[in-house]
Amino acid sequence: MKPTLIVHGGAWRIAEETHADHIAGTRAAAQAGWHVLCHGGSALDAVEIAVSAMEDDPVFDAGVGSVLNRAGDIEVDAMIMDGRTLALGAVAAVRGIKNPVRLARVIMQDTDHCVLVAEGARRFAEEKGIRLCAAAELTVPREIERFRKLQEVPDYHLSDEFTPDPMDTVGAVAIDQAGNIAAATSTGGVHFKLPGRVGDSPLVGSGAYADNLTGGASATGHGESIMRVLLSKTATDALGRGMGAQAAAEWAIRHMHERVNGYGGLILVDHRGNTGFAYNTPHMAVAWVDARGEIHAQIKG
Ligand code: GLY
Repeated sequence: MKPTLIVHGGAWRIAEETHADHIAGTRAAAQAGWHVLCHGGSALDAVEIAVSAMEDDPVFDAGVGSVLNRAGDIEVDAMIMDGRTLALGAVAAVRGIKNPVRLARVIMQDTDHCVLVAEGARRFAEEKGIRLCAAAELTVPREIERFRKLQEVPDYHLSDEFTPDPMDTVGAVAIDQAGNIAAATSTGGVHFKLPGRVGDSPLVGSGAYADNLTGGASATGHGESIMRVLLSKTATDALGRGMGAQAAAEWAIRHMHERVNGYGGLILVDHRGNTGFAYNTPHMAVAWVDARGEIHAQIKG
């Protein structure tokens, strides 16, 4: 089977002055994942590495560069899923960790559980020798400035007005030479969220889904909308009904908009290795590998 990979670096209004950084970041992530697949590596390794690369890149709202919550803290969410076995690992509302997708992978592989949250997830990371860090290591000046501005706004709530704020959740979906599909998603969530808020990203079927029988998906955008329609599972179910990857991605985004007036983006790989993506936001950052093995990275919109 010919492997393939698609990654996203968020969908919302992506500020013009950061377009080049988003393109460079998603391209680097796709290159890292593609390198794994080209050397016979697994889809799981490819999506973990691709997502980790974007967690390390301060341009995205994941890992380093994550948004601050109302208490001025960073709490991150992530998940990874194996389409061969439907095994999954996820973390939610966990502090002081640079690569939550790696922790999610260890939870998937080394425990009987699927999801660990908050302090328990942190303690487990420590036990497994996954490096913890101070919040300062994850916090970038852009987010401190945003937090200070939002503190001044009386009665702030996230709107659909597409202000150039980050919704730069990151994700990757891949299929490997053996035909195994994997998906992963990671996020700092939405800015100025309530402490303890968990978004769609670590919720199976919402932020990501992978099943060798149908395909894999990773979502980005407004978590409270994505989780209401199980966006990733909705899209992979559409693949299972015979829809093509591009058509299924577009249909799932349309469905979210029609049912809950939700906004976001989705990447998809079907079990034959066709890719698709769709969004109903002003922009989406996406990178994919074409049939000749060339990587394309773009801000769509
Ligand atoms: N999609 C990311 C979040 O809402 O947390």
